[in-house]
Amino acid sequence: MDINIGYIKNYELLEDEIFTAQFLSSLEDKGVKSLAIIDTKNSETKDSSLENRYKLAIGGELCSKDEKGCQPLCYYVPIITAKVLGSETFRNDYKTKYAYYAGSMAKEISSEEMVIALGKAGYMGAYGSGGVELSKVEQVIDNIKRELPEGPYLINLLHSQNNQAREEALISLFLKKGVRAIEASAFIEISPAIIRYRLAGLKKCDRLGVYSENRVIAKVSREEIAKKFMSPADPKIVTQLLSEGMITNEQAQWAQSIPIADDITAEADSGGHTDGQPLVSLLPLMMSTRDEMQQKFGYRQKIRIGAAGGIATAISAAGAFQMGVDYIVTGSVNQACMEAGTSDYVKEMLAHTAMADVVLAPSADMFESGSKVQVIKKGTMFPMNAQKLYELYVRYASLDDLPEKDRKALEVRLFRQDLNTVWNLVQEYLLKVDPKQIERAKTNAKLKMALIFRWYLGNSSHWAIAGNEERKMDMQIWCGKSMGAFNHWVRDTEMALWTNRRVVTVAHKIMDEAAIIMMKNQCKFMKVALE
Ligand SMILES: Cc1cc2nc3c(=O)[nH]c(=O)nc-3n(C[C@H](O)[C@H](O)[C@H](O)COP(=O)(O)O)c2cc1C
Repeated sequence: MDINIGYIKNYELLEDEIFTAQFLSSLEDKGVKSLAIIDTKNSETKDSSLENRYKLAIGGELCSKDEKGCQPLCYYVPIITAKVLGSETFRNDYKTKYAYYAGSMAKEISSEEMVIALGKAGYMGAYGSGGVELSKVEQVIDNIKRELPEGPYLINLLHSQNNQAREEALISLFLKKGVRAIEASAFIEISPAIIRYRLAGLKKCDRLGVYSENRVIAKVSREEIAKKFMSPADPKIVTQLLSEGMITNEQAQWAQSIPIADDITAEADSGGHTDGQPLVSLLPLMMSTRDEMQQKFGYRQKIRIGAAGGIATAISAAGAFQMGVDYIVTGSVNQACMEAGTSDYVKEMLAHTAMADVVLAPSADMFESGSKVQVIKKGTMFPMNAQKLYELYVRYASLDDLPEKDRKALEVRLFRQDLNTVWNLVQEYLLKVDPKQIERAKTNAKLKMALIFRWYLGNSSHWAIAGNEERKMDMQIWCGKSMGAFNHWVRDTEMALWTNRRVVTVAHKIMDEAAIIMMKNQCKFMKVALE
C-alpha cells in the first residue's frame, strides 16, 4: 500500500476489543471522531509482517517526518456507531435516535407493545392496523400516544382497492387523533384519502419552505408506484378536496410544492405480500427514480429511500447502508420476538425456520388477481392448500362446476364443513363490513366461489395468530427469507430461543454490529489487520 498522508506522534496504539459497540460509543461520547491508521514499518518494537504492519491508534498530533517517535499516518477512519448510520434528516424528522423502523405487520402482529418498546428506545415501530376494527385502532392510537406523546411511531395505512370507505375512515381517525406519521402500503393508485392526510398537514416556514406535518412513508416495490408517491398531488383531487372544505386555500396552492411521500421504502423480497425483487437490484432503481423525480419537480427537501426485505442481520443492514439508503426496515424478524402479537406456537416455528423453509402462496386479500404472499412451508400444508384453491378458482366458473371429488376434499379437509354453511358465515361477515359484495355475488358465481375460498385463506392467518393447534396444518404464517438468515446468525447465542428475543435487543444487535462491520470494512480496505 505505502500510502502516507503525513506523520504522527504521541498516539496510543489500540490492540484488543476495539470493535465493540460499547468501546466505540465510549470514544464517541468523549468526542473522538476518528481513529488513525499508522504504518508501523519503522517501529523497532513492532513485528513487520504485513498483517501487523498497519495499526489503529487513538489521539496523536501531526508532526514532521524528523520528529522523534513519529510514524507514517496512512488514513483516518471515522468512528461509526449505530447512531450515525443512515440519514440524519430521517432521525430528526421522525425524532428517532436510529435510522431504523420495524414495518407494519397486519392484525396487530406488530403490536402496540412492540411500537411502544421501539419508540422508547429511539427506534420506530409501525402498528399493524390491517384487518383490525376501527374502534380497536383508535384505542391503540390513544395508548401509543399516551406512552409516546412526541413519537416516534407509525400507523399502517394498508390500501384496499375494494374498501375505500375503510381508508377514508382511517384517515379521518388519523387526522382527529393527530397521528403525525404513517406507513402507507399496498397502494396501486394514490387515493384521495391519502392526499387529504398529506395536504391537511401543509404549512410553510422560511427554513423549510412548504412542508407537511403529516409525514408519509410509502412502502413500494415497483418503480411506477414509487413515481406516483414521488409526484405532487393530482390537481383534480386537490380541487375536489378544496371544494369539500377538507383543505384550505393556502394548502391547495402549496400542494404542488411537495411530493405525496417524504420517504420511499423500497421493499424487496420480504415476508407477507411481496414482488420478490432482489434488494441489490431494486435499490439502485429506486434511487435513480428518486433523483429523476427530485430534479423534475425541484423539491426543496430530498425524498429519502429506505430498504426493506431481507434485512435481519448486521451484514445485510451494513450492505444497505453502504449502498446509500437513508434508513432500514425490518419485518419478519420482529414476528419471532416476545412483543409480537402472535401465538407462542408460531414464534417457536419461526425460531426454527431456515431460509429454504418459505415459499410463495396465493394471498387472501388479492386472491382473484393471483397476488402472492411469502409464508412458511415447513410444518403446515397452507401453501399447498391455498394453491389448490387458486387452481380450482382459475379453472372453474362456479362452485357448481367443481368436480364432486374436489368439492368433497375441500369440505372434509380444508373447510371441515359443507360449502353452503361456509357461504352463510361469509355473508354474516360481509353484512358487517361490505354488504355490496353479497349483492354482487348473487349474480356472479365466480365471485361467490372466490369469497368462499377466501374464508379459508382469511381464517388460516387467524388460526396461526391464535395458536389453534387443531388447525396446525392450515396455519398461514407470513415470513420472509430474512427469518432464516437471522436464525442462522444467532444460532449459538441466547437469542437462538425466541423467548430471549426482544424487538429492541434485536434492533441494537443489527445496528451496532452493522456499524462495526462498516468500520472494519474501511480498515480492511486500508489493509489493517483486525483479527
Ligand atoms: C407477518 C407479517 C405481516 C406483515 N403485514 C404487513 C402489513 O400489514 N402491512 C405492511 O405494510 N407490511 C406488512 N408486512 C411487511 C413488513 O412490514 C416489512 O416490510 C417486511 O416484512 C420486511 O421484509 P422482511 O420480512 O424480509 O424483513 C408484513 C410482514 C410480515 C412478516
